[in-house]
Formats: sequence, structure tokens, C-alpha cells
Amino acid sequence: RWTTSSIVDDQVQRIQAQIGEGHAICGLSGGVDSAVAAALVQRAIGDRLTCVFVDHGLLRTGERVQVERDFVAATGVNLVTVDATERFLSALDGVTDPEQKRKIIGREFIRVFEQAAREIKAQGDVEFLVQGTLYPDVVESGGGAGTSNIKSHHNVGGLPEDLRFTLVEPLRLLFKDEVRRVGLELGLPETIVHRQPFPGPGLAIRIIGAVTSGRLEILRAADAIAREELTAAGLDSDIWQCPVVLLADVRSVGVQGDGRTYGHPIVLRPVSSEDAMTADWARLPYDVLERISTRITNEVADVNRVVLDVTSKPPGTIEWE
Ligand code: XMP
Repeated sequence: RWTTSSIVDDQVQRIQAQIGEGHAICGLSGGVDSAVAAALVQRAIGDRLTCVFVDHGLLRTGERVQVERDFVAATGVNLVTVDATERFLSALDGVTDPEQKRKIIGREFIRVFEQAAREIKAQGDVEFLVQGTLYPDVVESGGGAGTSNIKSHHNVGGLPEDLRFTLVEPLRLLFKDEVRRVGLELGLPETIVHRQPFPGPGLAIRIIGAVTSGRLEILRAADAIAREELTAAGLDSDIWQCPVVLLADVRSVGVQGDGRTYGHPIVLRPVSSEDAMTADWARLPYDVLERISTRITNEVADVNRVVLDVTSKPPGTIEWE
């Protein structure tokens, strides 16, 4: 019978057998899969693992700190953070098409990661790349041997010649709930272990219209309030995700303080779901919705209206873009 601690012991032994005295790198996304995979490998080979965290500037409030401070405190892992905000924002300048945004972010992400990997490799021989591939990913991609999550998430081709790695995939036999239990067993913070799904392209696909640092600031503030209130109301485990969307190219008239305002609407998109393939709009309590709405319109400049998305999937997707 597989207990969580026997899964950890077993995987640690397998990783040690595979990597031997070698070195590995792992890209962290802020999500649970890459965090747990990295923590297992850290447990197995210690400081012969180096993690790379590419901050594309499209993350939510607090997410970088969770990786840089809390994940490092819990694991003691070697971490290299690359702040690539400027690079991503200039690559996204004026881009409004959702698929175009994804393509650009995927391309830039791989370039930045490869550059960091090259620099780490130059300091010592790194042969292994750790990936947080789960069992459902393996099944979906028809075996998945040799594929890389970073790549497939961002829909880009193979790694260049000088960056060929042997893959280490310690979560290949696990489902999401097992991964979370392993994460807790390894002492990872709840905020990482129970993080709701968040798309790789981040807030860029939750800003309808062009992505700018000002618009990111608005959305980040509104999103932080929504998450705070949902957590305070104890609703985190009832909902699958709650995208907060900025309709940046839409303006609506409002009356705030002494006069008329002309601001942006914010959309709340709380959904319940089993697997994101289908979803139902979540029936949040009115008092929670009211607190979120009041706080966002009071605290976030340029937002004068909060609307609730009551569309199921299908026909609506979970994300707006
Ligand atoms: P949709 O919007 O298609 O989303 O109903 C289904 C799930 O996938 C997530 N999602 C993404 N995840 N890159 C990702 O890593 C993406 O480009 C992307 N688009 C959507 C979404 O958050 C939901 O969990």
C-alpha cells in the first residue's frame, strides 16, 4: 500500500539512482507541480539541483515572493530568479490578439529559460532537466516520453542542440491530489500546495486589450482583493478558479466621490469544475460578492464597476481569452 511517505522515499531513491553524482536544473512556475518535482529532487540530490524562476511580470500579487522566500525557506533550494518583466512587456507592446499573446509569451519564456540554463551549464556540467509532468499529462500526450512540460505548455518545438537534457519526471505516476499530499509531506507552504490553476501566460490573457504595466497594476490590485475575500470567506476549496478580468478597452460611466468617473469594468469569473474541461459558474454568496465589489471600486483607481460572469463552460471558456 502506497502511503505518502513511501511515495516520497521511493521517488527519492529513484531520482538518486537516475542522477547519480550528476547535476540538474528545474524551471519553477509558481505552481504546485514544478514546486513538488523540484522539492523531491532537492531532497534526493541537495545542492546539485539549481532552480530557475522566470518572472515574466505577468504574475499575481505575492507569487514571486512565494517562490523566492517561502519555497526557498521550505526546501533550501538553490534558486536563480530572472526578472524579465521589461522584455515581456516590450514583446507584448500593442498586441491584443489572445493567441498572439500566448505565442509571444511562450517564445520569450523559452528564450529566457534557455539563456539561464546556458549560464548555469557553463558553471558546471548539468545533464538533467526536472519536469513536473503528472500522470494525466503523460496519458494525454500519448506516452509523453521525452516531451518537456515547459515546451508543451507554451507550444514550442524541441530544445536546441547544446541544451539537450535527460528528463527527470518524479511525478509521472501521480495524480494531482497525490502531488499535493507529497508537497505537504515535503513541508511546502499551503499557498503553493493548494494554489488554484493559473495559466502560463498569466495576467496577459486576463487583460482584454493591450497589456501595459498600468493595466497590470489595476488587475493585480483587483485580483488580490478578490482572492483575499474568497479566502477570508473560506471559499477556496469550493471553487476551481476565479479569474479576475480587466476590460481595458471598455469604459463605463460611474459616480464616485464628488463626480462623474469614466473607468474600466472588472469581471469576476468564479467557476466550479472537476477538470476544467467543463465548468459551472459558481454561486458565490451575495455578501461575499458585495464585499469584493465594494472594496475593488473603493480601493482600485480607474475601476468603477464590477460585473459577474454567469456563463457555464460550454459555451463560455473559463478564461476570457
Ligand atoms: P479555458 O479558458 O480553455 O481554460 O476554459 C481551461 C483551463 O486551462 C487554463 N488555461 C491555460 N493554461 N496556458 C496554460 O497553462 C494557457 O494558455 C491557458 N489558457 C487557459 C485555464 O486557466 C483553465 O484552468
